[in-house]
Amino acid sequence: MKPIRKAVFPVAGLGTRFLPATKAMPKEMLPIVDKPLIQYAVEEAIAAGITDLIFITGRNKRAIEDHFDRVPELEAELEAKQKIELLDLVRNILPAHVNCIYTRQSAPLGLGHAVLCAAPIVGNEPFAVLLADDLIDARTSVTRQLVDAAHQQNGSVIAIQDVAREHTNKYGIISGEAVNATTTRLSGIVEKPSPDQAPSTLAVVGRYVLEPEIFEHLRQTQKGVGGEIQLTDGIASLLRARAVYGLRYEGDRYDCGSKAGFFQATLALGKKYHGLIP
Ligand code: UTP
Repeated sequence: MKPIRKAVFPVAGLGTRFLPATKAMPKEMLPIVDKPLIQYAVEEAIAAGITDLIFITGRNKRAIEDHFDRVPELEAELEAKQKIELLDLVRNILPAHVNCIYTRQSAPLGLGHAVLCAAPIVGNEPFAVLLADDLIDARTSVTRQLVDAAHQQNGSVIAIQDVAREHTNKYGIISGEAVNATTTRLSGIVEKPSPDQAPSTLAVVGRYVLEPEIFEHLRQTQKGVGGEIQLTDGIASLLRARAVYGLRYEGDRYDCGSKAGFFQATLALGKKYHGLIP
């Protein structure tokens, strides 16, 4: 498999579960303690050797572009006041070798459609996809874990996690056969099945390494659950042509797209990394 240098960050969703906070501000800019969700995801990708960050944006997402850009007047002010640590912090949001590329999804037609918007930029290379609202606190970047598994298996790899059966209707759920203790070769994948219909309790979380063939399959994908073009349905089509694997990653995941997960992440990371005890 070719080296994986590009990561796609779909950030065009409406974030309705966090209204009114997300009325004028992107969900991905909500902070866990002092860092926006999108920055956690970007740091994870960079730790996996990614050099090209491709953001699929929409209306109201300018704050994300601004966040990863320089702010000369703030830097000048911090320099004048000799606030050197803060100056380093704002100057080094991204390492110099990393590029940001922004493209717009014309309307939030679904995650599959958002990923397809990256096709002209990704080209014919395998690439990572990270959903910033799944924050994963891990010793080894989960994207790195997926990249390593993709090279090992020579195929697409998606992050999976066991969930309670009553929660299958919130996730893509896979079926398949174990290849080793952490890896399953998929035989099927279905979006948000009801608990009685779910083929397993292995749920897809928001990290993927995909071969570029996914784009052909997404082009053929019709609207699915919720009237949206689902990435899950594109992967279901891909795995009929090529091997796709699920990896039980190591790390603690917080579903920061939900209020409960966001609150848990704030408590856990606040305590672990900032010594904050409520
Ligand atoms: P979600 O469904 O969790 O996000 O999509 P949402 O739609 O923004 O949030 P709610 O449900 O209304 O609160 C998962 C990810 O896919 C992106 C979202 O930005 C989020 O990161 N997405 C979703 C797109 O980029 N485009 C879409 O059309 C749909």
